[in-house]
Amino acid sequence: MSKSVQGFSKLTKDEKIEWVTTNFTQDPNAAKALLKSYWNSDSKLQRLHDEFIENTLTNHYLPFGVAPNFLINDQLYTIPMTIEESSVVAAASKAAKFWKDRGGFKTTILGTEKIGQVHFIFDGDSSKLWEFFTKIKPRLGEDASELTANMVKRGGGITNIELRDKTNDVQGYYQLHCTFETLDAMGANFINSCLEQFAKTLKNEAQHYTPFTEAERNIEVVMSILSNYVPNCLVRAEVSCPVSELKSSAVSPEEFAQKMVRAVQIAQAEPHRAVTHNKGIMNGIDAVVLATGNDFRAVEAGIHAYASKDGKYTSLTHARIENGQFYFWMEIPLALGTVGGLTSLHPLVKVALEILGKPSAPELMQIVAVAGLAQNFAALRSLVTTGIQEGHMKMHLLNILNQLGATEVEKKELTNYFKKNTVTHSSVVAAFENLRNN
Ligand code: HMG
Repeated sequence: MSKSVQGFSKLTKDEKIEWVTTNFTQDPNAAKALLKSYWNSDSKLQRLHDEFIENTLTNHYLPFGVAPNFLINDQLYTIPMTIEESSVVAAASKAAKFWKDRGGFKTTILGTEKIGQVHFIFDGDSSKLWEFFTKIKPRLGEDASELTANMVKRGGGITNIELRDKTNDVQGYYQLHCTFETLDAMGANFINSCLEQFAKTLKNEAQHYTPFTEAERNIEVVMSILSNYVPNCLVRAEVSCPVSELKSSAVSPEEFAQKMVRAVQIAQAEPHRAVTHNKGIMNGIDAVVLATGNDFRAVEAGIHAYASKDGKYTSLTHARIENGQFYFWMEIPLALGTVGGLTSLHPLVKVALEILGKPSAPELMQIVAVAGLAQNFAALRSLVTTGIQEGHMKMHLLNILNQLGATEVEKKELTNYFKKNTVTHSSVVAAFENLRNN
C-alpha cells in the first residue's frame, strides 16, 4: 500500500491523523480514538511533546522505572530507567543489591574530549596546504570566539584543531580534526556551530592566500559535523570482591567466578556472542540514557565502534581472577549532557536527573557505565547458572497474561501459581486456559 501526499507537514494534527487513519487502517475511527487516547489531558504538556519532533500524531509511552541500591564510589543512587523490556530493571536492581554488600561499584573518568570534523577536498600541493593551515590556525579559533565565549567562561571550549591528510582514502580528502571540552553539555549544537564557522574561515582564507594557485584557492568543504565516536570521552566502571564472596545458589563461588570469566572470554573471542553480550550491557546503558533525555543513537553508535576499535568486534566487559579476587570491569565512551537539549525541556527527564541528585555530565557518565556493567553481571550470572529464561520469563509473566487478556483476578491467581511453577509461554497459556475453563 503506497500513498504519497503533498504538503503533509502543513496539515493540522487532526488532519494528519485523519489522513493516516483513513489511508492505512482498517477501522479509522478506532485508530483515531486510540491515537487520541494517548494525548495528555494537559494541553500545554501535550504541545511541548508535539513540538519535540515533526508530524507528531500522539505519544508513544515507554515505562519509566527505577533500580535502587546502587553504591557508586561510596555514594548511594537510585537509577531511573526507561525501557520496554521486562527483567532489565529487576536484573539491574538485583546486581546493585549484590554489589552494595561487596564494596559497591568504583568508577573513573578517563577523559571528556568531544570530537568534530570539517571534511574538505583540496586539489593541489599538500605542502602548501600545511603551511596555509599553520598560518590560519589561530584565526579559526578567533573567528569562532563569539560562539565559544560562554563555554570558555565556564571552563570549556575548543581544545585543539589539527589538519589531517586522508588522501590515501579518498582523492584530495583532508580534515580539520577538532577537539572540544563541552563540560555538562553533550555539545552537539556547540560543536556543529564551531565547525561550520571553521569551514567558513577555511574557505575564505584560502581564497586570499596568494601562494595557492587559482585551483588550490577553491577548497571544497564537503561537510562539517561532530563525531559520535568519542574514544577519549571515556569512563571506567568496575567491581571486585574475594571469589569466596561470590555466592550463588546454583554453583560454588569458585565455579561461578570461573564460569563468569569464561563467559567473558567467549564474548571476547566470538563476535556473534559479543553482540548479544554487549546488547545486554546496552539494556542498562540505553535505559538510563533515555530516562535522562540523552541521545541513545549517538551512544549506541559510539559504543559499538569502540567495541571494534582493535579491528574486531568484541566484548565491552572484562573479567579476571587474581590472587583469589574476582575483578569485573568495563571502559566505554559516553558523550552525555545534563544541561541543554531535552534535559531542560522534558518534565520526566528533569525528575530523572533530580532522582540522581542533579549530576554533572561526568557523574552521569559514571552512573550510566555502572548500569551497563550491572546489567552484564546480572545477565551473565543467570546465563552461567540457571539459564536466562527462568528469571526473564518470571518477569515476562504479566506481558503474556496481558496478551491473553487475563483479568486482574486471573492475573493475581496465576502470578501466585507461577511462584512455584516454571514460566514458559506454553505453561502460562495452559494454566490460563485451565483457570478460564474452570
Ligand atoms: P530472582 O533471584 O528470582 O529475584 O531474580 P528475587 O525475587 O529473589 O529478588 C531478588 C532481587 O532482584 C530483588 O531484591 C530486586 O532487587 C530484584 P528486593 O527488591 O526483593 O530486595 N528483583 C526485582 N526488582 C524489581 N521488580 C521485580 C523484581 N524481581 C526481582 N519484579 C531476576 C530474578 C530477573 C532479577 C534474575 O533472574 C536476573 O537478573 N535475570 C537476568 C535478567 C536479564 O538479564 N534480563 C535482560 C533481558 S535478557 C537480554 O536481553 C540480555 C541477554 O541476552 C544478554 C546476554 O546474553 O548477555 C541475556
